[in-house]
Amino acid sequence: MSELSVNHLLGIKYLNKDDIKLIFETADHFKEVINRPIKKVPSLRDITIANLFFENSTRTKLSFELAEKRLSADVINFSASQSSVKKGETLIDTVSNILSMKVDMVVMRHPNPGASVFLSQHVNASIINAGDGAHEHPTQALLDSYSIRERLGNVKGKKVVIVGDILHSRVALSNIFALQLQGADVMVCGPKTLLPKYIDKLGVKVETNLLKALNWCDVANMLRVQNERMEVNYFPSTREYTQQYGVTMDVLNSLNKDITIMHPGPINRGVEITSEVADSNQAIILNQVENGVAVRMAIIYLLASKIKQ
Ligand code: NCD
Repeated sequence: MSELSVNHLLGIKYLNKDDIKLIFETADHFKEVINRPIKKVPSLRDITIANLFFENSTRTKLSFELAEKRLSADVINFSASQSSVKKGETLIDTVSNILSMKVDMVVMRHPNPGASVFLSQHVNASIINAGDGAHEHPTQALLDSYSIRERLGNVKGKKVVIVGDILHSRVALSNIFALQLQGADVMVCGPKTLLPKYIDKLGVKVETNLLKALNWCDVANMLRVQNERMEVNYFPSTREYTQQYGVTMDVLNSLNKDITIMHPGPINRGVEITSEVADSNQAIILNQVENGVAVRMAIIYLLASKIKQ
């Protein structure tokens, strides 16, 4: 297969197995490109991309911008805090105005679940979802699986546990879909209050005991507690959360095998993992960041080739 089955990247749930394979093979090529002395290719010289961030972001925004620039696309950036959104403009009006400046592709992060699906139905541009509320974060899940494939050779058959605040995490949902599509065995682990009620319907194993989960897995993807999305207290205190769900070197050393530690960032050092764990050889957190650029280049390149047709 040489093209994606979709015209937008709205969520992993719209992709198939072959799409993921194609994205990874294309990312392998771009990973080689970004490790050359000249890290740029002229592929997208005729494409203009708008990065619209209605919610805060560091890594994802920089990673997309770098991916676009390394493909030689023209890039414009917009962040909601400095825009007319604050003056009451609607999402469609904001985006239509930007598109009338001849923009081909929109990368959007938005606090509302479904915002990018809505946009794809109303404007004429290719849309990439860079995170929509607690719903999906497809590029993060793809770079996570790509990083597992790089470290362990394959995603299929691997046991992956996602630990922490599953309830508020778009990274968790997209990872569950992506890992299952590739034939991994997926578990979620966290306090009951941070597991969604519909978790049984997602076909994942559920474990509330961290040690049991870590002894089972090949890979642990550690999530941040998303305090900014919590309107009530979901656990007694951060200290208690860390005691039960924080990964320390002692915890890792008590296991009968080496597991791979992942984190999408931003890390709350000393809460979900200690600094020693984050900086250890078992962690692939900075590889994830590096791979993020190559995977996003692949996605943008593949979607842009569909626009050009
Ligand atoms: C995540 C996000 O924004 O969903 N971060 C990211 O994109 N790398 C996870 C988080 O905020 O904890």
